[in-house]
Amino acid sequence: MNNLILAIETSCDESAVALISCGGTNIRPSVVSEKIASQIALHAQYGGVVPELAAREHLTALPTLVSAILSEQSNLVEDRKLSAIAVTCGPGLKGSLLMGVNFAKGFGLANEIPVYGINHIEGHLLSPLMSHARLEFPYLAVIVSGGHTEILEVRGVADYHLIERTADDAAGEAFDKSAALMGVQYPGGAELSRNAEQYRQLNPDADCESYRVSASKSQLSFSGLKTSFRVALDKLKRANVEVDVNRACAAVESAIVDTLYARIRAACSATGISRIGLSGGVAANTYLRSRLCDLGEVFPAEHKWCGDNAAMIGFVAGMRITHGFSLADTTIRARWPVEEMSG
Ligand code: KG4
Ligand code: ZN
Repeated sequence: MNNLILAIETSCDESAVALISCGGTNIRPSVVSEKIASQIALHAQYGGVVPELAAREHLTALPTLVSAILSEQSNLVEDRKLSAIAVTCGPGLKGSLLMGVNFAKGFGLANEIPVYGINHIEGHLLSPLMSHARLEFPYLAVIVSGGHTEILEVRGVADYHLIERTADDAAGEAFDKSAALMGVQYPGGAELSRNAEQYRQLNPDADCESYRVSASKSQLSFSGLKTSFRVALDKLKRANVEVDVNRACAAVESAIVDTLYARIRAACSATGISRIGLSGGVAANTYLRSRLCDLGEVFPAEHKWCGDNAAMIGFVAGMRITHGFSLADTTIRARWPVEEMSG
């Protein structure tokens, strides 16, 4: 049976929709079309996501995105008919989730299409499968985003086992907060990384000792690292020493990646698994990707699916339907650990 699924994602600051096809001869669900409206520019002026503004933006962006995708694909939709709506129900910002869920419910009711709730983190967790046909179970899912950082063993669809979750900040948060300390605009992760790359290219053998940013190697944690960086910057400022921004960026990036590397290595040896599915916004980080290569085979989510998107939400729905697993209802869950999606 062929299914055509409309997916909706509004858990944070991206309004996104996608059409996913699954069943029939497809081994895995495929993305027919997708659209995204990013709010990054809006929130950048406040130095972070403002929840009320995010919710309001979703409210205005969603109807436009949905009608655009449906009219662009009108022949297909006419022919196949939508069989389900998959909407992110958590974890995320309550107001933002509410906008997506309410829209999905209204649209589903008006068109007599069932609406299912999807766990946003399950989207990140399965997203490496979207573009790597060779990636098989079991694999280690390393989810590194602005709000979440966790390592899970993925034994199959709906068979997820938490290995470690950050004790405090997320990796993306560590990038963004460190970037902010150097005056780099939110979200600063990508720019911090570009600066670090420049430094490494010009100084391949240099270390970044004067910026003593301490990596945590015995547990997944980033708050100490951030504090030590702030202390190092303050010290330089007090001594009237000008900060070498690129060098400082390299120090921070190394410490964040050292922490992730140590914990992923521990997870690889605890499970004996060396296939690593890397996803979430920070998975776009090239230094992280290259460092992980000596731990095993790395399967990063495709660049456009590293950050938040609706394609991965529809993909989860398609995978669960194809493998005979139930889908959740549309209750909004601001907190929703992904391992609860097992079974
Ligand atoms: O997954 P995502 O789009 O949103 C959340 O669900 O949080 O991740 C956004 C995070 C931000 O913290 C951003 O700075 C970070 O991903 N990020 C990066 C890079 N590109 C995005 N961090 C480091 N290096 C990058 N190249
Ligand atoms: Zn996300």
